[in-house]
Amino acid sequence: MTILVTGATGNIGRKVVDHLLARGATDVRALTTNPARAALPAQVQVAKGYLRRVETLPAAFEGVTAAYLAPTPETVEDVLRIAREAGVGYVVDLSGEHESWWGGVAKAVEASGLDWTHLSPGDFMENTVSWAPQIIADGAVHEPWPEGRSTPIAMDDIARVAAAALTTPGHGGHSYPLTGPEVLTRTDLLDRIAAALGTPLRFETVSRDRAVEVLGRTMGDQAQWYVDTILKGAMEWEARPNTLVEEITGTPATTFATWASTHTASFRP
Ligand SMILES: NC(=O)c1ccc[n+]([C@@H]2O[C@H](COP(=O)([O-])OP(=O)(O)OC[C@H]3O[C@@H](n4cnc5c(N)ncnc54)[C@H](OP(=O)(O)O)[C@@H]3O)[C@@H](O)[C@H]2O)c1
Repeated sequence: MTILVTGATGNIGRKVVDHLLARGATDVRALTTNPARAALPAQVQVAKGYLRRVETLPAAFEGVTAAYLAPTPETVEDVLRIAREAGVGYVVDLSGEHESWWGGVAKAVEASGLDWTHLSPGDFMENTVSWAPQIIADGAVHEPWPEGRSTPIAMDDIARVAAAALTTPGHGGHSYPLTGPEVLTRTDLLDRIAAALGTPLRFETVSRDRAVEVLGRTMGDQAQWYVDTILKGAMEWEARPNTLVEEITGTPATTFATWASTHTASFRP
């Protein structure tokens, strides 16, 4: 029973490989464009290819029974057709609600004829790393809405859920809206980063335009969309944490305080 991990050097895919091995999976194959650079564990078979270059996939899917599907909405229908033709029976995909950009992956998977599990996370803890340039430059974060709320989840927990779904029965046909364990405001997040760093950090409430200007220095054109959609949306959204990570993996979801304490290097020069 070969499990293929696509996007296997990606932020989540690479962790899926590790969690599959930790759960005792013995037949794991990893898809990467550059096997030499990928530095994958020795016991993993490495397949050369990429989900957006579908001509590379028939060989990668040969003999595969189940796969972790990294999100590539542009090519997902071809990817699934090739997987089905190769005899793959089950996919665990990283996707999102039907109406979202990532929802295209979920809809294609449901139409593919394969058995499936959707992983549909909200805010990632790792998104706070976008604050690093501001924190390093002057110990402050400049945003308009300190009370914006989310239930951020660690990418490692998403990967843990993926590995559990790929190695234990009963997950087919389920869509899991994964969250972290707690509701946190923007200032809660910054306070926990400050505690982890052992340094005071300031949240400076600024106008929407000023936030776009500050974030634009590192995000470029994406800053406007990020402020108007993600940050403003967090003010309107009713954030509710769930316990799916613990129910599926048997281990509680990582708290943001713990995540911050293991990622201090991301916020230092
Ligand atoms: N609900 C949500 O919020 C949601 C849902 C789904 C997805 N997402 C987004 O999806 C992302 C998933 O990230 P991920 O890092 O786990 O996986 P990923 O970005 O889908 O996969 C990245 C991997 O694809 C490979 N790749 C090959 N050619 C590439 C190219 N030209 N450009 C980019 N990548 C290339 C790279 O590996 P090799 O070089 O080894 O081939 C890379 O490690 C998240 O960061 C998030 O933004 C969000």
